Amino acid sequence: MTESPDPNARDLIEFYLDAGADAFIGEEPVDRFALVDGPVAPKVAERPALVREAAPPIAAPARPAPQAPDEAATAARIAARSATTLDELRAIVEGFDGCALKATASRTVFSDGNPQARLMLVGEAPGRDEDIEGLPFVGRSGKLLNQMLKAIGLDRTSVYIANIVPWRPPGNRDPSPHESAICLPFILRQIQLVDPDVLVCLGKPSMQTLLGLMEPISKARGRWVTFNTGKRDIKALATFHPAFLLRSPLQKRFAWRDLLAIKKALKNG
Ligand code: URA
Repeated sequence: MTESPDPNARDLIEFYLDAGADAFIGEEPVDRFALVDGPVAPKVAERPALVREAAPPIAAPARPAPQAPDEAATAARIAARSATTLDELRAIVEGFDGCALKATASRTVFSDGNPQARLMLVGEAPGRDEDIEGLPFVGRSGKLLNQMLKAIGLDRTSVYIANIVPWRPPGNRDPSPHESAICLPFILRQIQLVDPDVLVCLGKPSMQTLLGLMEPISKARGRWVTFNTGKRDIKALATFHPAFLLRSPLQKRFAWRDLLAIKKALKNG
């Protein structure tokens, strides 16, 4: 008879996945602080026997030297500006090593949808499902986003979707302001190259980063503002992030109003 899986073990694995530990790297735990020589680590002679006997640290694979955030943002700006097509921009983003998030993500999540679309949606950052598939909004919030779009007669063939940050932050934490600042030139150039008529920011971080609106999203959502793409002025609006709507379904009534406003703007514009 096969043993049924321990439900506690399943919960623990789910907890690890949610916390960003999505790869098994060894049978035994290693106290890496104890392997570091420096003021925080006890001297070798004082360390417990177990630590002294631990294998020497394995040399990390060669990675490009980390850049200061300002330097990285400047490098991103120069690189983004040099892209004349979305394919060029995608290759540039995939080859960019100035943002530390890339080192912990499994894939670059550049975009999904139709580059000719008149509506562009921008979320915050990929989550675990997006990191696995390499596409934005494919997890639970993506499924809700699909339903929201369907409600106004749209789908992924008629919209273009991207994120402020193209790499999953470890454990699905929020991207830091520095990480967002480094990646900003890429999403700005992406908007310029897609050249949509209507831009929709999904959630507060996207709204703050792209539209500079610092009010609570519950106040700012649904209000049209002008967004200058560098080529022309377009209409932009912030609405609730689908992940928030999954947690607060009563707020869907406000998202519905925003969807109707988006539909109207596309019809009139
Ligand atoms: N949340 C986001 O902001 N973007 C995704 O791609 C998925 C979830």
